[in-house]
Amino acid sequence: MDEQGYISNLYGRRQDKPLRARPARLMEEFLPRVATPDPGVGEIDPATMFSGKREIWFEVGFGGGEHIAWQAAQNPDVGLIGAEPFVNGVAKLLSKVDEGGLENIRIHFGDARPLMEALSTGSLTKIFVLHPDPWPKKRHFKRRIISPWFFKEASRLLRSGGELRVASDIPDYIRWTLMHGQNAPSFEWAAICADDWNVRPADWPQTRYEAKAAREGRAPAYLKFRRI
Ligand SMILES: C[S@@+](CC[C@H](N)C(=O)[O-])C[C@H]1O[C@@H](n2cnc3c(N)ncnc32)[C@H](O)[C@@H]1O
Repeated sequence: MDEQGYISNLYGRRQDKPLRARPARLMEEFLPRVATPDPGVGEIDPATMFSGKREIWFEVGFGGGEHIAWQAAQNPDVGLIGAEPFVNGVAKLLSKVDEGGLENIRIHFGDARPLMEALSTGSLTKIFVLHPDPWPKKRHFKRRIISPWFFKEASRLLRSGGELRVASDIPDYIRWTLMHGQNAPSFEWAAICADDWNVRPADWPQTRYEAKAAREGRAPAYLKFRRI
């Protein structure tokens, strides 16, 4: 456990290989300009990070940033916050933000959970968790980000009618997410027919992990939970 009581290796490694010069420069010089406030400072109203945005969306574990960058480009009137502890992923997103002129993204380099706890109640309208680390061994289930704690925090953060989207290509994790979703009284699974979770919606771009799963023959489920 770390000092906040979280299981600190929930998100595994933070770096795989040393950064090249440009990504290292982006981390040092550009990240401070687009970083969220430090969750350690207390409550954060995410609206203060943006000006004139109609909604604020949050992505947990954005990986290489494909999804958050796509959403930001498609929805310039929305503010997007992404949290990711993996330095190479953060550097990739910084490059996309810089090259695409995406002024509506703010980045938390680190664990999403303290930031979620710091954000104001009812401040978000969408939360995305795409292909979370599966932690397949039973003794590691407690490290899974989708948990009763997660649904409770998501319920506090989302406005009524807001949406929690979870994708996974691991059948056991899909069942796990549905089970925790069913046990969360303030959410309903927004699926009516099989196509609602078998077919990727048009406003849901493919991520690197989804592409990897497809290459390896695994089909993802696209789960949408509506905040009641
Ligand atoms: C399997 S990868 C999926 C990445 C990306 N969402 C995609 O679909 O390509 C899971 C990601 O979640 C991140 N992650 C794990 N635990 C996290 C946490 N507590 N807060 C934020 N990100 C986390 C990992 O660093 C990793 O990048």
